[in-house]
Amino acid sequence: MSPFHVTRTLPEDATDAALRADVLRGLTRSPKTLPPKWFYDAHGSDLFEKITELPEYYPTRAEREILIARSGDIASATGARTLVELGSGSSEKTRYLLDALTDLHTYVPVDVSESALTQAGHALIAERPGLDVHALIADFTDDGLVLPDTPGPRLVAFLGGTIGNLLPAERASFLTSVRSLLAPGDALLLGTDLVKDESVLVAAYDDAAGVTAEFNKNVLAVVNRELGADFDLGAFAHVALWDAENEWIEMRLRARTAQTVKIPVLDLAVDFADGEELRTEVSAKFREEGVRHELADAGLELAHWWTDAEGRFALSLSVAR
Ligand SMILES: C[S@@+](CC[C@H](N)C(=O)[O-])C[C@H]1O[C@@H](n2cnc3c(N)ncnc32)[C@H](O)[C@@H]1O
Repeated sequence: MSPFHVTRTLPEDATDAALRADVLRGLTRSPKTLPPKWFYDAHGSDLFEKITELPEYYPTRAEREILIARSGDIASATGARTLVELGSGSSEKTRYLLDALTDLHTYVPVDVSESALTQAGHALIAERPGLDVHALIADFTDDGLVLPDTPGPRLVAFLGGTIGNLLPAERASFLTSVRSLLAPGDALLLGTDLVKDESVLVAAYDDAAGVTAEFNKNVLAVVNRELGADFDLGAFAHVALWDAENEWIEMRLRARTAQTVKIPVLDLAVDFADGEELRTEVSAKFREEGVRHELADAGLELAHWWTDAEGRFALSLSVAR
């Protein structure tokens, strides 16, 4: 069987320290916020996989459609020998790229979710003898992300529209960091969900079966387990709304009544007013010109822009100048 390495780029206690810092900062400010990366413990990663199969959640199907149609073009345009995937999760759609990239030597999935990485990594090496899989447990927003020394050309993939979870200023510094991982001629494959009718967007984040609501509340379960907090998940309602000015979806948790939540590890008591909302995720939606500019500002030149047949989602291939 081919090699499978997992490297933790963060010290063992870094996740705990980062969670404490994010919870302290996010719950003592107004409005209250928590970063979306904390959804993804093992249960949250499983819930996300369920979301990708929901009838309302079109992005995964739309992106898969593009990958099926365009993976051959991506392979011939890049000739990649190393594929790095940021926020790789289950690596499910990545299989179309892995099939097409015939010169590929190493696949480097990068994710905060150790459970998703190990499950996907073991499945991949069993399916693909000869492929070297070097997984990194890491935060992709970390400036200091160091990739293994593997052969170029390098293709960095960032799929699923996950870039939309970063705020505009965060996206700019993230894209600059990604550019610094690339040599001239290396490429970035970026999945971006596109601006569309509000009802379609809101339904994708507020499904009838309530799976997204459970995913949203999972961040409270993570804080309860990791920091000993006493959030009552039933005391919060899932909210998804479209911010037309910023062109992003926001997921929030709305307190059903006034309440105080204790977080003993932080020696903190957090008051929620009746109806007060905690923002848990922003998911920006994009237009071609905006993506082209953001890439150009980071030193990446848009070479291809592909959408699904219904124009809901785009994959762009850009090249490091
Ligand atoms: C929206 S899911 C997309 C998963 C997969 N790429 C797809 O297209 O279906 C986001 C993924 O990014 C990971 N993730 C979120 N924030 C992260 C961060 N700051 N650093 C590394 N991984 C992160 C999550 O664990 C999850 O697997």
